[in-house]
Amino acid sequence: MNDMTTVTEAQAVKTARLPDAQTVTQVCHWTDRLFSFRVTRPQSLRFRSGEFVMIGLLGDNGKPLLRAYSIASPAWDEELEFYSIKVQDGPLTSKLQHIQVGDEIILRPKPVGTLVHDALLPGKRLWFFATGTGFAPFASLLREPETYEKYEQVIMTHTCRDVAELAYGRKLVESLKDDPLIGELVGDKLLYYPTTTREQSPKMGRITTKLMDGSVFADLGIATIAPETDRAMVCGSLAFNKDMKDVLESFGLREGANSEPKEYVVEKAFVG
Ligand code: A2P
Repeated sequence: MNDMTTVTEAQAVKTARLPDAQTVTQVCHWTDRLFSFRVTRPQSLRFRSGEFVMIGLLGDNGKPLLRAYSIASPAWDEELEFYSIKVQDGPLTSKLQHIQVGDEIILRPKPVGTLVHDALLPGKRLWFFATGTGFAPFASLLREPETYEKYEQVIMTHTCRDVAELAYGRKLVESLKDDPLIGELVGDKLLYYPTTTREQSPKMGRITTKLMDGSVFADLGIATIAPETDRAMVCGSLAFNKDMKDVLESFGLREGANSEPKEYVVEKAFVG
């Protein structure tokens, strides 16, 4: 009798839904360091493209282990997409990297963030500057109609160590032209500028260096960044964000926020 009870209780625990549970619908491994996945979207969840939410799993102690993740899918998408690093000894991503279709993750439906259109003053060109998984919020904003309605030109730069680490972003950018929903809006407004720093590729070097020596403008055949015309969003490591702030300020751009829109905004990419 006791044994029976134990089995039943164990099953009950295993099948109990997590708090704020969402079901994994797709997992894609890009490299041994990077993967993306899609989950069901809570019906009540409204967010602005570019925002992040807290997601995670139950830790070994039974408590939720949550981290801030940018939503990589646009606000109109039926599901939610995330793009993540895999850190072998990372408390969350060491486990999260093993999720499979049908598994559940925890998602706190309280979106926030500064990489939103509302935090920028109107402009002509919009720059998205990403390193590594910092591409995630731009995967959302690149699929957001407002991005192309508000700007004449959109420039997506992505710097990674190796060519393989560019794959998620490259595939997404390439898919936009044929996208039935926003393909026409994108038209020829989007310029894509991927660079690598540790493996040979057509464009080598850190984007910060290429902005300061002017090579990015020469390569793309466009004017230098100016506060009258240009707006920017930055997402990468702490060091990258800090260096990009200095670069953008040297061009005369000022940092904005939801409450006080200006010429650029910054957010840290999740790293572990
Ligand atoms: P680098 O290889 O020269 O360090 P990571 O994988 O370490 O997050 O880095 C992602 C990419 O961002 C790498 O190509 C890296 O270049 C680049 N990067 C890291 N820090 C900075 C920075 N402070 N300024 C510009 N690029 C950076």
